[in-house]
Amino acid sequence: EKGTYPHYMLKEIDEQPAVVRRIIQNYQDENDELTIEQDVLEALKQADRLYIIAAGTSYHAGLIGKEYIEKMAQIPVEVHIASEFGYNMPLLSEKPLFIFISQSGETADSRQVLVKVKELGHPALTITNVAGSTLSREADYTLLLHAGPEIAVASTKAYTAQLAVMAILSSVTAKAKGIDIGFDLEQELSIAANAIQTQVDDKENMEDIAREYLAVTRNCFFIGRNVDYYVGLEGALKLKEISYIQAEGFAGGELKHGTIALIEEGTPVIALATQEAVNLNIRGNVKEVAARGAYPCIISMEGLAEEGDRLVLPRVHELLTPIVSVIPLQLISYYAALHRDCDVDKPRNLAKSVTVE
Ligand code: F6R
Repeated sequence: EKGTYPHYMLKEIDEQPAVVRRIIQNYQDENDELTIEQDVLEALKQADRLYIIAAGTSYHAGLIGKEYIEKMAQIPVEVHIASEFGYNMPLLSEKPLFIFISQSGETADSRQVLVKVKELGHPALTITNVAGSTLSREADYTLLLHAGPEIAVASTKAYTAQLAVMAILSSVTAKAKGIDIGFDLEQELSIAANAIQTQVDDKENMEDIAREYLAVTRNCFFIGRNVDYYVGLEGALKLKEISYIQAEGFAGGELKHGTIALIEEGTPVIALATQEAVNLNIRGNVKEVAARGAYPCIISMEGLAEEGDRLVLPRVHELLTPIVSVIPLQLISYYAALHRDCDVDKPRNLAKSVTVE
């Protein structure tokens, strides 16, 4: 039930701090240490390479999952779009483990890959929100998202849940392999949950940003570097699917290789600047587009902020910034769609689970 909320999407955005806290609880052992089932852990430890298969928002989560797994657990990861993988399969490693990320657990594009993977005799893990879903039943292992039912077509809380679960999977595997990740993930996830709360409490500001940048535009660009780039891809998908504004996410350095030609007087460019190592570079990209007339909206983080940034997120661990920086992008998309009288929860041409290939 959406209760007093005008839309499921807004309700589901608001649930995200609670979802992250629920995930921490569900993945704790009796000593309150983060844990995953032993058989899943063994499968992860035995794999020489992980292949993440997903579609849409879940694919965007997979891109960040790769960062988590490679940085923490030190296992090489490839991330593939499910619909491409079937006929364009890369050379597989000797001991692959396939990870299917799917909110619904019913996406046909992902399922056809799972069928093929099982034919080849490789192990598969599904990360899903729906216990008993097809992808969960047909895989060897399942990790649940515990996000609660997601009703709005545009995925929000499942994405943050996917990131949190993949962070936990990564840190638990790291520990089992004797790798010191150098921080307490459980504590950092709690800090991130609080930071998400500050963003969902700042709705008036998000609505102002949507009105200021997106009321009349026909297009919008999202730029970022490193994980900020992947969050930008997700921000662009959210915006286009519910507001029908043409939106694209780009790696900050890539814009000048062609797309910058589209920048006109007033074109909104939403820039994410949460990564210390590339902070100067992304700010350089903002100057490049601003010099060509773009109207930049910089979303940065405490400690990296500069005068003129439109939104400054509370400081969280650098790997966990996507869990927080995606929230304003979800809310800005929501309000942009609302201002354009779009059907937020049921955008045109889309279905909640895509059960055709
Ligand atoms: C976007 C969206 C879709 C889904 C995609 C995969 O907001 O909802 O892009 O993410 O169809 O769906 P699942 O995760 O159910 O496999």
